[in-house]
Amino acid sequence: MHQDSTMLNHTNKISRKFCVAPMLDWTDSRCRFFHRLISAHALLYTEMVTTGALIHGDHHRFLQHRPEESPVAFQLGGSNPKDLATCAKMVEDYGYDEVNLNVGCPSDRVQNGRFGACLMAEPKLVAECVAQMSQTVNIPVTVKSRIGIDDRDSYDELVDFISTVAEAGCETFIVHARKAWLKGLSPKQNREVPPLRYDVVHQLKKDFPHLEIIINGGCSHPIAPRGRIRERLWVGPPIRSLPTCTLWRPRR
Ligand SMILES: Cc1cc2nc3c(=O)[nH]c(=O)nc-3n(C[C@H](O)[C@H](O)[C@H](O)COP(=O)(O)O)c2cc1C
Repeated sequence: MHQDSTMLNHTNKISRKFCVAPMLDWTDSRCRFFHRLISAHALLYTEMVTTGALIHGDHHRFLQHRPEESPVAFQLGGSNPKDLATCAKMVEDYGYDEVNLNVGCPSDRVQNGRFGACLMAEPKLVAECVAQMSQTVNIPVTVKSRIGIDDRDSYDELVDFISTVAEAGCETFIVHARKAWLKGLSPKQNREVPPLRYDVVHQLKKDFPHLEIIINGGCSHPIAPRGRIRERLWVGPPIRSLPTCTLWRPRR
């Protein structure tokens, strides 16, 4: 890991005041084009694509997008630093504005591949992934995480994760404000059952004022969480049912 890697994301100029979260089977190129028609500035995220799919599959199919969608962040799933760096370069070459590493997905399939939320137990590996990606591309490298997993959900462990990964060059963290249970809950239950802990994300923001901390989870309407959070906001599934009212305010 390079000592000066915290400097590598200094081109991080994207506005993330309002973002549309990555949603598998939803936020594809056509969906993002539609979202862009009703929001000029929201940062739009792709669905998660694994490093294996990009390296061994039809990468053009996954990476192609229209310039009109911009700004768009491409989300990667993986845990091999070299593969992630290779894929980050592809993402940059295809003109995306940010590359995001998924450290929040709890599905069995993802766990079996040793990526997603289970990586919260391996902060040094995530740091190495971020370091190699940051050294390879000039676009910002960001991380989406949970506030904890299983019984590893103390605030100290979360602080250790954030500080270790930040030292590797990540300046922006998107934090889904609920922990993930990796055994026993389905991905859907993991989006609804563990209680939302906005207070934990607020505390992170206080403890890491130099980092950009973006909150995600339970944002059913932008007005609802605004009073509590007054920070950066990620909107997930409600965007599917409330596109107009959800995106109207950010247009300003
Ligand atoms: C259908 C669907 C697909 C999702 N796919 C992804 C994904 O590919 N990558 C990811 O990081 N999160 C994914 N998520 C999680 C959302 O990005 C978001 O973190 C989660 O839904 C919490 O926000 P909410 O409480 O507003 O639903 C998905 C959620 C849904 C409902």
